[in-house]
Amino acid sequence: MPGDGVVTGYGSINGRTVFVFSQDFTVLGGSLGEAHAAKICRLMDQAMKVGAPVIGLNDSGGARIQEGVVSLGGYADIFLRNTLASGVVPQISVIMGPCAGGAVYSPAITDFVLMVEKTSYMFVTGPNVVKTVTNEDVTFEDLGGALVHASKSGVAQLSAPNDLAALKLTRDLLDFLPQNNQERPPRRETADPAAREDAALDTLVPADPKKPYDIRAAIRAVADDGKFLEVAPLYAGNLVVGYIRLDGEAVGVVANQPAHLAGCLDIDGSLKGARFVRTCDCFNIPLLVFEDVPGFLPGVKQEHGGIIKHGAKLLYAFCEATVPKVTVITRKAYGGAYDVLNSKHIRGDMNFAWPTAEMAVMGPKGAVEILYRKEISASKDAAAAAAAKEAEFREKFANPYVAAARGYIDEVIEARRTRPKLIAAFRMLANKRDRNPPKKHGNIPL
Ligand code: HXC
Repeated sequence: MPGDGVVTGYGSINGRTVFVFSQDFTVLGGSLGEAHAAKICRLMDQAMKVGAPVIGLNDSGGARIQEGVVSLGGYADIFLRNTLASGVVPQISVIMGPCAGGAVYSPAITDFVLMVEKTSYMFVTGPNVVKTVTNEDVTFEDLGGALVHASKSGVAQLSAPNDLAALKLTRDLLDFLPQNNQERPPRRETADPAAREDAALDTLVPADPKKPYDIRAAIRAVADDGKFLEVAPLYAGNLVVGYIRLDGEAVGVVANQPAHLAGCLDIDGSLKGARFVRTCDCFNIPLLVFEDVPGFLPGVKQEHGGIIKHGAKLLYAFCEATVPKVTVITRKAYGGAYDVLNSKHIRGDMNFAWPTAEMAVMGPKGAVEILYRKEISASKDAAAAAAAKEAEFREKFANPYVAAARGYIDEVIEARRTRPKLIAAFRMLANKRDRNPPKKHGNIPL
């Protein structure tokens, strides 16, 4: 069979070496046979030796049925290499056609999955098998199309409208990643002044604490040239993650989104954030957090779905990360979420707060209800008594100064000056050295 259904080789993107394999669906459905697997394994071994990223262009019907266990063995050989390369060289999977069976598990282990809309699918078993086993009628698109995986399952972090756009996006993404875990991401010079201030940030946070705003405005305002490559934009909109540059250096951003679920942390948001933080940490990409979080999302669905263990993943990921870590609290930093989102206590290096920031165990309303319930119900005008207590609580706790007095916040900054402050902080942290105790590996609550 021509090339056994896969083309492998190396080249360069923006002057940096990359290894690429591309499956050919016209040869036995791009299915994976012995030689096909051997070619991919050889490519990965070489990439590991020279410390360069691997990009897989996937288009495969999975294990080649007529080769039987030999093709299953071939997959296992690849899965092992994907796993050993994880955290050593970046691995990006671009899904450019139907991918079934074993063809989905290799991408799933890699750092990023990017799908082409309308022409790519990922599933363990296709619609026919689904119909036979569960009697469900489902189309290819609804079972495993780009939109499903980018918005519902979270299997794909990125999607693109066509093949060319997918390849362009892959190149853009690669620009934020180092060649390997011993290096830093490439610097890209910018004409955007490091001292640039943005007066619009002073009024971004509405006076009414219940009103939402789009945190992306803050991210773009501080980023070089306003550019933000958002990762997983369609999944868990309450947590925004992605890459920017600050004075030419790549930075991974994690931000609560008050415009979605009021910025609460839920199961999906925690998973999305934890994965992103770990990806940045293993590839030496500094982390920037914009925090405006009223807490974890309450509810039976969340509790029974395991918000405890999933929220713990985000907490674990931030605790474990040793890259430079900077936080900006724009408004609410309530409850456990205050701790989780890169607080100083879990090795946040520089923690800033805007004057609009509030740090407390909970919001004023909830706090007053618990602390003064008897007192309020005993008073003649309960509403007025509650309002007075809330105002008192807000004055006392709902500001950044209590935290700043304790050193939990390094500086309360004018919002407009966020970009210069961040650039100065990341410059100071450029040679940060920190490490975790020696161990085989930690036991993140999976
Ligand atoms: C051998 C395969 C093949 C496979 C497709 N072909 N999949 N040949 N092994 N796994 C061949 C077809 O026979 C056909 O050959 C050609 O590729 C194109 O396939 P079509 O079915 O005509 O294409 P399409 O309609 O686009 O459907 C694509 C598809 C479907 C959804 C991927 O082919 C399909 O469901 N394939 C089987 C998927 C699967 O179950 N794979 C094994 C999973 S087990 P001709 O000669 O007619 O052109 C597995 C174990 C790994 O992977 C375990 C790891 C954990």
